[in-house]
Amino acid sequence: MPANLVVGAQWGDEGKAKVIDVLSKDTDIIVRYQGGANAGHTVVVKGKKYVFHLIPSGVIYDDKICVIGNGVVIDAAYFLEEVADIEKEGFDVRGKTYVSDSAHLLLPFHKLIDGAREDGSVDGKKIGTTRRGIGMCYADKMMRTGLRVGDLLNLKTAREKLEHIIEEKNAEMKALYNIDPLQVDDVWKDLMAFYDLWKDRIINTSFYLNEALKDGKRILLEGAQGTGLDVDFGTYPYVTSSNPTTGGALIGSGVSYHYLQKVIGICKAYITRVGEGPFPTELHGEEGEKLRKLGGEYGATTGRPRRCGWFDVEMLKHAIRVNGLNAIALTKIDVLSDYDSIPVAIGYELDGKRLDYLPSQELDRVKPVYKFFPGWNSDISGINDFKKLPKNCQDYINAIRDLIGVPVHILSTGPDRDHTIILG
Ligand code: GDP
Ligand code: IMO
Ligand code: MG
Repeated sequence: MPANLVVGAQWGDEGKAKVIDVLSKDTDIIVRYQGGANAGHTVVVKGKKYVFHLIPSGVIYDDKICVIGNGVVIDAAYFLEEVADIEKEGFDVRGKTYVSDSAHLLLPFHKLIDGAREDGSVDGKKIGTTRRGIGMCYADKMMRTGLRVGDLLNLKTAREKLEHIIEEKNAEMKALYNIDPLQVDDVWKDLMAFYDLWKDRIINTSFYLNEALKDGKRILLEGAQGTGLDVDFGTYPYVTSSNPTTGGALIGSGVSYHYLQKVIGICKAYITRVGEGPFPTELHGEEGEKLRKLGGEYGATTGRPRRCGWFDVEMLKHAIRVNGLNAIALTKIDVLSDYDSIPVAIGYELDGKRLDYLPSQELDRVKPVYKFFPGWNSDISGINDFKKLPKNCQDYINAIRDLIGVPVHILSTGPDRDHTIILG
């Protein structure tokens, strides 16, 4: 049976969780494959809102299995809090979630260093991270000095490893950031709280997932962040420290590429970005504020106001290319109901010359070339039949499909599970 993939096509917060929730209905296993508690994934069911950070969004279905793949970085203390919060709402998390033995543990010093660097303690520059320690944990993974979830299965060697790591990190924190040393026992206590509750849920998830696929189970891979934040294909250095793109989904889950079927790129009918970095179609001042208000664009993780701008076809074509997207989900079309004319960037110019693709460098200097579409000036919130959308709205959606050359599989006209149009 197939594995389908949901991947962000912009700079995150595209409405991935809303689409994952809709698709989870016809899925057996939902897998997070990268990122960590930097993600903020919102699902709304019959007006009730749930926000997930580390736990896959499918957890609110009773009959689905959730998996946290090897590519995710897990803050054990945060993880326990999130599980407790979800279980307070009446959902079973532990009973239906597995954690990869190869996922890396995000430890308190990762967050402290992330925060200190964002405060400018090194070169005065900042990325605008979520301060959740993500980059520092992935750096240790690549340095081959990280502690993995599976290490906890041998407590003696795990403790020794942790002692060594903390000694090194305490020295680094003092020398570079003037941060007080951490006590091994404090860090160990959190890890043991996680171990006590979760030790029997720690498995080789790659083996589990490929066997499940062989047995006919359907898998949905849940991306966090988005293509514009990919450490290779995003706007480096203003990116996250993982690969949210298709390659990262395979690496971060260990699912064989043979099984991959639908690769669905999620994009808003406009664009948002949180944190620093180039954003060619960004709207400033009152125009930006109008879109932010209409879309309720405030971060689900940090509460920061999101920067807002117009839909960008060139950026989406980049996402289609690097992810191999074979379907699109277009979300938040309802937010554009209040415009007479809707600009869409259909390409870029740099120094007066038209570019063929989104450049890896100098995105801050490109000028978008806009095409203007007539608005529909009526509230389409919650409409779940394509034929009931105003003609101008239908034309806008069809025009985007024609500009990108990839079918629009799902339309979202509101945050709720029911505010959805499936286009086949
Ligand atoms: P994710 O990180 O990609 O899962 O997206 P977020 O959850 O961070 O942000 C998307 C926000 O838009 C959430 O508050 C959703 O409830 C909301 N949302 C999703 N789809 C729609 C839609 O079609 N219309 C409206 N108005 N809101 C939506
Ligand atoms: P979801 O899954 C939007 C951004 C941060 C910052 C950059 C690096 O909800 O779409 P990090 O903490 O990862 O080192 O920050 O990436 N960022 C996100 N922006 N949505 C997210 O996740 C994000 N996760 C990280 O704002 O610019
Ligand atoms: Mg989000």
